[in-house]
Amino acid sequence: MNDLTHPDLPFYQPVADECAVFEMAQAKALPLLLKGPTGCGKTRFVEHMAARLDLPLYTVACHDDLSAADLIGRYLLKGGETVWVDGPLTRAVRMGGICYLDEVVEARKDVTVVLHPLTDDRRRLVIDKTREELVAPESFMLVASYNPGYQNILKKMKPSTRQRFVSVGFDFPAPEVEVPVVMRESGLAEDPARALVRLAGGIRKLTGMDLEEGVSTRLLIYAATLMASGMPIARALEAAIIEPLSDEADVQQALRDLASAVYG
Ligand SMILES: Nc1ncnc2c1ncn2[C@@H]1O[C@H](COP(=O)(O)OP(=O)(O)OP(=O)(O)O)[C@@H](O)[C@H]1O
Ligand SMILES: [Mg+2]
Repeated sequence: MNDLTHPDLPFYQPVADECAVFEMAQAKALPLLLKGPTGCGKTRFVEHMAARLDLPLYTVACHDDLSAADLIGRYLLKGGETVWVDGPLTRAVRMGGICYLDEVVEARKDVTVVLHPLTDDRRRLVIDKTREELVAPESFMLVASYNPGYQNILKKMKPSTRQRFVSVGFDFPAPEVEVPVVMRESGLAEDPARALVRLAGGIRKLTGMDLEEGVSTRLLIYAATLMASGMPIARALEAAIIEPLSDEADVQQALRDLASAVYG
């Protein structure tokens, strides 16, 4: 078990060979793209790997207003003086650390222009404002995440960008992995954790028909946490699974029916 071999690191239960792929990509200076649905462990995986490789981690949650300057840095006024302040990407390059761009497709287009020379064999970061050109040290690694499930045609990743990354596909873990993760993160006992994961299996089959995306491991942990602190099962399912997944009465009812089938 991973948590026994790496007891001091942020807990991450591997699903397949993703740890080896990450290590190899880092050793060979290749950028890595993590594809997968919300709440399936991507962020935890990066935190775990950064700690395991003993590299500083700079995480950026990308949004539609995020510009190249937010990543690279800008001149700021400080006590009447203008000083240059590095952004998280520049800091990661200077430190030879890991820069994790969460939901990279959300960012503005000018970000792509910055990422391209950094993600091919040039490994260069150009800072126009300070007229610097940094060559990334060997240990520097760019990791990005992307949720292909959103089906947002306006925000698909361009082939010229995605083909600059080695990619690993994430999905919801198999029950043998998900049950111990839910138990460990929430403190819930094994039997109720198994029941939750069984319910999740049923809900995930509905994905695409009624639900945009299946229930995440994150929501299972929320429900488990509420149950472990004494909330009745039905109330915990309502608060942590049914309400977060849908606003529509008929979908919510379908979820309640699934829950009754599992909990009897
Ligand atoms: N394999 C795993 N090992 C340990 N914990 C996990 C694992 N998978 C999921 N988790 C748990 O699920 C929670 C959600 O995972 P995380 O925040 O990493 O998801 P994510 O894929 O980054 O989601 P998002 O796309 O919404 O940012 C974590 O806080 C952790 O508790
Ligand atoms: Mg995340």
